[in-house]
Amino acid sequence: MVLKKEKGSAERILVDERLQHIAFIMDGNGRWAQKRGMPRKYGHSVGAQTFRRIAGYCREIGIHYMTVYAFSTENWKRPPEEVRAIMGILEDYIQKFSEMTEKESIHIRFIGNLSVFSKDLQEKMENLDRETASNPFHLNIAINYGGREEIVHACKALICEGKTDIGEADIAAHLYTAGCPDPDLVVRTGGDTRTSNFLLWQSAYAEYHFTSVLWPDLSESDVDAAVAAFYSRHRRFGGV
Ligand code: IPE
Ligand code: IPE
Ligand code: MG
Repeated sequence: MVLKKEKGSAERILVDERLQHIAFIMDGNGRWAQKRGMPRKYGHSVGAQTFRRIAGYCREIGIHYMTVYAFSTENWKRPPEEVRAIMGILEDYIQKFSEMTEKESIHIRFIGNLSVFSKDLQEKMENLDRETASNPFHLNIAINYGGREEIVHACKALICEGKTDIGEADIAAHLYTAGCPDPDLVVRTGGDTRTSNFLLWQSAYAEYHFTSVLWPDLSESDVDAAVAAFYSRHRRFGGV
């Protein structure tokens, strides 16, 4: 990590090749809204704005891959009204992405079991992935995503291919994140210190950073703090 001072602006951090991929468990939207006497869905719409701001910032500081946990395979247990609101925000983002300035710099990819979504939406997601594939900042949005479901899905795909001798590389190549390096740093907002079924395979050697800041409040300096924490760690990968 280096600190860079650009003309006329404050000093800011720039990451190097040690931190290529950052993942966020965007937690705390509901509590953020409830604290303000507002319905939980309000927290999700403010959270969506935070997501765009933080993605822009991560790109600026030199991150190449970012993955966000937007909706888990377990989140269907929530009240239908909340699920509808989250799905509405996601659909809106997908529909409008082509007109957003981000389209120029972001390669967007949706990860998770997408088969539950309408054919039309699946097609839109595939098209966005394809159309933006040459962009340098890779943004994975996890929807209807579960780490366990992903591993089962990969195993089933290998069985369908008739594979009997299965290695780690085979599983990795059939995950929704295939082709994307493993996350170096996973940040969870909202104060809980668990993975909630996020990137189980890929995070085997990720560094974790937990903050009590609720997702809608996450600031650029909170990201700097997470990055600084990452650089203070000694990653041994099982060595000495
Ligand atoms: C995270 O915020 C967003 C989703 C899980 C969709 P929450 O909605 O879980 O917010 P809290 O944790 O209840 O505050
Ligand atoms: C994790 O948050 C899922 C997302 C951020 C999308 P949850 O709020 O669903 O996690 P739990 O229920 O507290 O473990
Ligand atoms: Mg939560």
